[in-house]
Amino acid sequence: MSTMLAPEPVKADTRKVVLSGIQPTGKMHIGNYVGAVSLWVQNQTRYDNLFCIANMHALTIPEAINPKTLRQQSRETAALLLACGIDPQQSIVFMQSDVAAHAYLAWILSCCTPVGWLERMTQYKTKAAKTEVVSSGLLTYPVLQTADILAYKAAYVPVGDDQKQHLELARDVAERFNHLYEAYFPLPDVLTRTSGTRIMGMDDPSAKMSKSTAQTRSGHAIGVLDTLDVIRKTIMSAVTDTGNETRFEVASAGVRNLLTLYEVLSGETRDQIETRFAGRGYGALKRELVELVVRTLEPIQARFREISDAPEYLNDVLAQGAECARERAERTLADVRQLVGL
Ligand code: ADP
Ligand code: TRP
Repeated sequence: MSTMLAPEPVKADTRKVVLSGIQPTGKMHIGNYVGAVSLWVQNQTRYDNLFCIANMHALTIPEAINPKTLRQQSRETAALLLACGIDPQQSIVFMQSDVAAHAYLAWILSCCTPVGWLERMTQYKTKAAKTEVVSSGLLTYPVLQTADILAYKAAYVPVGDDQKQHLELARDVAERFNHLYEAYFPLPDVLTRTSGTRIMGMDDPSAKMSKSTAQTRSGHAIGVLDTLDVIRKTIMSAVTDTGNETRFEVASAGVRNLLTLYEVLSGETRDQIETRFAGRGYGALKRELVELVVRTLEPIQARFREISDAPEYLNDVLAQGAECARERAERTLADVRQLVGL
């Protein structure tokens, strides 16, 4: 007599949840790749991952981006994440705006967030100082980011150094919600690299490499999609100094930035790198960094072209990503609505 096998219980994903996001506000640069995206890729098999294109965050300064560009760059950013090695079989990739629960949750969380906490954010102060009309969205930007994270009760948020303050705020908001209502949200932890968490501008090593600066200054950033010529030009004209010091601890900021890029992209130890470049001058460091960057970016650019040639594939990935993310975020939102009395 044959026995009926009991159906296998559906295996719940017990891995910790990771969520991160990237704004589609310009061309992705090597700082984004090193500080954030490569970290997402490296840890992909260890966690239950969600990565979003933060296209609603890109609306906070509406004068800075037109609708057509926003739409185009959002897709390009999604394609680039896949080209960098984010695997839709391992990770949920989605457009933030496709999951309406983020904005809904952001409203509830904004009601738990004292304005003073938001006014203290350095990114807000810097951006507000440069913006003629400061929207309330620019102020509440970190609350939307908190909603992105808490909608999935993420344990870890892999980001570059500049986002640490927003992450601390996310923890504070989660804690305040838990205090006001019920201990519901786990407190998310930031996940950063030990080195390469803040890549500086090639033309100005005192400022972080950023997408917005790259739009107005050509030698500022190494774009992930830059041509070999542009990469070479940008690195060869990077700001250094008049000496030849290539030890990490004592090098000037510009040289240390080049060394750090070399370190993260090569996987070599600092000792190995210092030995390699000792007494050879900055020209050698720059030339070998050009080679390394090109070797890193070439396969990414090739995959990006393949993905761009297959728009249906990207549509499918984003549609599936949105569906999975929506389902999970809706569950959290239902709990939260219940908890707050809606
Ligand atoms: P940007 O500031 O250039 O507009 P985003 O705000 O979209 O970039 O950042 C996406 C991710 O890349 C974030 O995790 C951010 O911390 C990281 N990141 C941005 N710039 C750098 C940098 N210069 N070095 C390291 N990581 C960075
Ligand atoms: N604000 C982040 C940045 O500018 C991007 C982002 C949006 C994000 N939502 C997020 C990062 C959620 C981590 C988690 O870099």
